[in-house]
Amino acid sequence: MTQATNQVVIFLGPPGAGKGTQAERLAAAYGLTKVSTGDILRDHVARETALGQQVAPILAAGQLVPDDILVALIRDRICTMEPVRIIFDGFPRTQAQANALDLLLEELGAPVSAAVLLEVPDEELIGRIVERGRQAAAAGEPVRSDDTEEVARRRQEVYRQETAPLIEHYQRTGRLTEVDGTGTMDEVYARIEQVISTAR
Ligand code: AP5
Repeated sequence: MTQATNQVVIFLGPPGAGKGTQAERLAAAYGLTKVSTGDILRDHVARETALGQQVAPILAAGQLVPDDILVALIRDRICTMEPVRIIFDGFPRTQAQANALDLLLEELGAPVSAAVLLEVPDEELIGRIVERGRQAAAAGEPVRSDDTEEVARRRQEVYRQETAPLIEHYQRTGRLTEVDGTGTMDEVYARIEQVISTAR
């Protein structure tokens, strides 16, 4: 494996912070594969696979899917990747997931290059999520089962309890950068790009 070309970026941040939006753009610009665990799970739900049927009520309730399911999904996606050029959107989300990812990346010889924490005030986050649900409904498009105010608030709470502690995990690696996630999408992207372009 050509270690120099490996690049592993992790997006952290609460629901609605813009992880998916920004990860998509960055992946296209840097030739990285975006792995969004939320998208993967929603795809299973839409196709009504056995996994989809198992996780649908968990997503609708705004709770986290069990760690072993997520770790197996991620392992499958990245274990044959060479070089490892990836952006994680929505993974890891618990300490157990972060530990499993550390081990997996160590096996692959591909350490985390950058962890980006997108920060947006709580009420703006709820507004973005509710607005996404409203717009999808108005356009006759599928509405995410978790894009209601009630579930969005529960997702925020789950984030605070389960995922926010990972900020410290990545701070310890010296790879974490906090990025202001407010303003236009272009403004946020410019801030993120500055971080990524200087990451080793
Ligand atoms: P997931 O799909 O990962 O959802 P999330 O993290 O809760 O967040 P969102 O997708 O709502 O927000 P985002 O930060 O990606 O922002 P986005 O770019 O979409 O997870 C869903 C569920 O799957 C979880 O609750 C859980 O059940 C399960 N799951 C997933 N991963 C798991 C894991 N690892 N372990 C266990 N369970 C897991 O933007 C949001 C909206 O804001 C959009 O409409 C966008 O257009 C808008 N927007 C973005 N940027 C801006 C801006 N600068 N200004 C104004 N609007 C903006």
